[in-house]
Amino acid sequence: MNKIGIVFLCSFVIMLAACCKEPVIGPEEGNLIDISYDPVLVTIDVDNLTFPVLEQPVDNLMTEAGIDLGRHLFYDPILSGDLSMSCSSCHLPSGSFTDNRAVSTGIDGIAGTRSSMSLLNVGFNYRGLFWDGRVQTLEEQALLPIEDPIELHTSWMEVISRLQESDLYPEKFRKAFGIENKSEITADLAAKAMAQFQRTLISSTGSKFDRVTLGLDAFTDEEDMGFLMFFELDPELPDAQCWHCHDRPLFTGNSYENNGLDFDTTYVSFADLGYGAITGIKGDNGKFRTPTLRNIEYTAPYMHDGRFNTLEEVIDHYASGGHYSHTRSPLMDSINLNATQKEALISFLKTLSDQSFNENPSFSSPF
Ligand code: HEC
Ligand code: HEC
Repeated sequence: MNKIGIVFLCSFVIMLAACCKEPVIGPEEGNLIDISYDPVLVTIDVDNLTFPVLEQPVDNLMTEAGIDLGRHLFYDPILSGDLSMSCSSCHLPSGSFTDNRAVSTGIDGIAGTRSSMSLLNVGFNYRGLFWDGRVQTLEEQALLPIEDPIELHTSWMEVISRLQESDLYPEKFRKAFGIENKSEITADLAAKAMAQFQRTLISSTGSKFDRVTLGLDAFTDEEDMGFLMFFELDPELPDAQCWHCHDRPLFTGNSYENNGLDFDTTYVSFADLGYGAITGIKGDNGKFRTPTLRNIEYTAPYMHDGRFNTLEEVIDHYASGGHYSHTRSPLMDSINLNATQKEALISFLKTLSDQSFNENPSFSSPF
């Protein structure tokens, strides 16, 4: 038999062996197509007509499987260099998704300069994320902590290979995004899933304030006094100005403001330039994004650098009008509050507490 004949025969034997072999059991390496992909879209019913619509990017609509995957990733230390921390280490449900520290510390024990932010109603923060607004979407945001040296400090390449090797995740990525092979797991898909989960973190009806608004409950006299001052509804009481920046129903307008934390006469001596470092406009120096006041009772310490330990200190700050600087908001002015009125404001702030949000089983660790 000549050479060609041998090759021919061999190929024939190989073909025969292949077609007569037992059917292949299980998918080839990394193949996921045998796992069903039936995405079930989730519409969030905010259940509070005063709320804005929860916008979702068209290329990342929420699905049951996407939210489930995002929730697992959010709580999984597989995302950190030494497998010791997850997103939830700095965003704990018990602290309304903050870590209750002045500033956060990452896996290497290095402290950052900013305080962890509550993720309550984070899906409604349409005017930029972080204290300084440096990213626009939850999808972009979720990419950052993994490689941040003072947060989870690893690389996406490492995380992706861990996810591909895990027993849990290839199937979850298939169900969430319809990938056909585990080699298609990417950082972008992981970030999309985490964004979907975070959009579910909504508190809209669980606080006493909401129940009062819906006519299901009533304020005490003290809470009512605080309410009237907060919204400037009683000419007999001091105008506390709060609602201008922390308006209902979200208790934030998400605008960038300087609420007088630091003294400055040069535009540039702020310890943290905040929004100005992002826009490059010196008139924005010392401004930070106004945070929500919902669940404020559970998120101490307060402000971007965690400088105030208690709500009493916060109210004293606002009563004083804060420190002078060129970029301080004109709304910051001293407020003549007596001790009873200060307590009333705090009592009102506590009506924004929604413990059921912190304890919601759909938001807790799936592990
Ligand atoms: C080491 C602690 C730490 C870890 C880990 C961490 N965060 Fe954060 N997070 C922070 C701090 C601090 C801020 C505010 C940072 C700033 O403004 O510069 C923040 C801000 C955010 C914000 C912005 C919220 C808003 O309203 O603007 C989101 C969203 C967020 N984190 C989600 C996540 C996700 C998702 C993960 C995991 C992939 C994660 N975080 C991991 C500490 C942490
Ligand atoms: C000019 C706009 C403005 C006004 C008026 C205002 N705030 Fe704020 N508030 C902010 C900004 C901006 C921050 C974040 C500042 C920072 O950390 O740099 C903030 C932060 C807070 C915090 C801390 C939030 C956190 O998560 O750490 C509380 C509490 C608070 N404000 C309550 C009030 C109350 C009560 C009033 C009325 C007495 C009030 N604010 C008036 C803009 C304002």
